[in-house]
Amino acid sequence: MSDYMIEFVNVTKRYGDIVANEHITLQIKRGELMTLLGPSGCGKTTALRCLTGHNHPDEGRIFIDGQDVTDLPTYKRNLGMVFQNFALFPHMTAFENVEFPLRIRGLSQSERREKVVEALKLVRLEGYGSHFPRQLSGGQQQRIGLARALVYRPSVLLLDEPLSNLDAKLREEMRFEIKDLQVRLGITAVYVTHDQEEALALSDRVAIMNKGRIEQVGTPEEIYERPGSQFVADFIGLSNFLEGTVTAVEGETTYLAVDNLSLGLATTAGARVGQRVLAFVRPNEVELAAPGTMSGPEVLEGVVEKMTYLGDKVDYRLRLGDRLMLRVQSGGTVRFKAGERVAVRLPMERCRVIGGGKA
Ligand SMILES: Nc1ncnc2c1ncn2[C@@H]1O[C@H](COP(=O)(O)OP(=O)(O)OP(=O)(O)O)[C@@H](O)[C@H]1O
Ligand SMILES: [Mg+2]
Repeated sequence: MSDYMIEFVNVTKRYGDIVANEHITLQIKRGELMTLLGPSGCGKTTALRCLTGHNHPDEGRIFIDGQDVTDLPTYKRNLGMVFQNFALFPHMTAFENVEFPLRIRGLSQSERREKVVEALKLVRLEGYGSHFPRQLSGGQQQRIGLARALVYRPSVLLLDEPLSNLDAKLREEMRFEIKDLQVRLGITAVYVTHDQEEALALSDRVAIMNKGRIEQVGTPEEIYERPGSQFVADFIGLSNFLEGTVTAVEGETTYLAVDNLSLGLATTAGARVGQRVLAFVRPNEVELAAPGTMSGPEVLEGVVEKMTYLGDKVDYRLRLGDRLMLRVQSGGTVRFKAGERVAVRLPMERCRVIGGGKA
């Protein structure tokens, strides 16, 4: 038995001149929920379609459960699918919708009945079998769609933006339902989204895609805490980028010249004077205080250009020095208004250098 349920090995897919997937290599473990995350057009659906067999890769191979399926038709791959613009059959009841894949597969009426009842229970919609889609809420329709994808017990579940038609609150609830269902069934799942919060909430691991390539694969925590590139740091959560040149290394502190400012970063295996460094810090990791109340190499002064009250937090856009703009978010009440001067502490250990190690 292969350790991996799904393997992409060096998969490239072109549409004419467009390289929609470029040398994609990705292993997905048994029972794992892997999310393909990236901006619109980066090739997520294309990769999923290579997996389903709706696309044939120009190069590379695809394996499901150790079997090379690259040349197998879709119906021989035993996949359950829920798609973005998924539609239930409007003229069929919920029961009939869920039953449909079993009819195609030629199961007897009693077998079908048993499996449909079980699937409806799985998505907590027993008792809704006789409802037509128009008599169901968006979330209920989505759950019927899930039941339809799971009723024949596929070995892999594929979901392409399955929540994009739902409102924000329902989307958040459905996230947990999908995750819960996936864990209960122990099914391997590939989830496609461009919503980073959804990806962080659902996934065992996330593959971040950019322009047809995979930029980084890791657990939600790894990609958030240790982004391997500026693209990833920018795509996952909000980031302030601090690009500068190392001017001095003194003990535990590396001094970085960012524009006309001097900023201290934490040490620094092997940082050299003159080296270019790109660091980042999250808006909620920066501390603000009244001017003159903090000091040290990691403290700078700035001016609030814009303050936005967001309920659970306050968002500040600060100008530091001539050009550097910094986004800071802090919880609670409004402490500074536009035009006020502030002291800004960029905690050394939170200003991480992109690309792994430290400065
Ligand atoms: N059938 C097709 N013919 C030609 N080009 C295509 C086709 N399908 C996709 N593309 C192109 O391939 C690239 C990747 O598209 P894909 O649908 O995989 O992106 P995506 O990451 O799923 O985007 P979204 O988040 O908008 O759904 C895009 O540039 C797209 O325009
Ligand atoms: Mg897509």
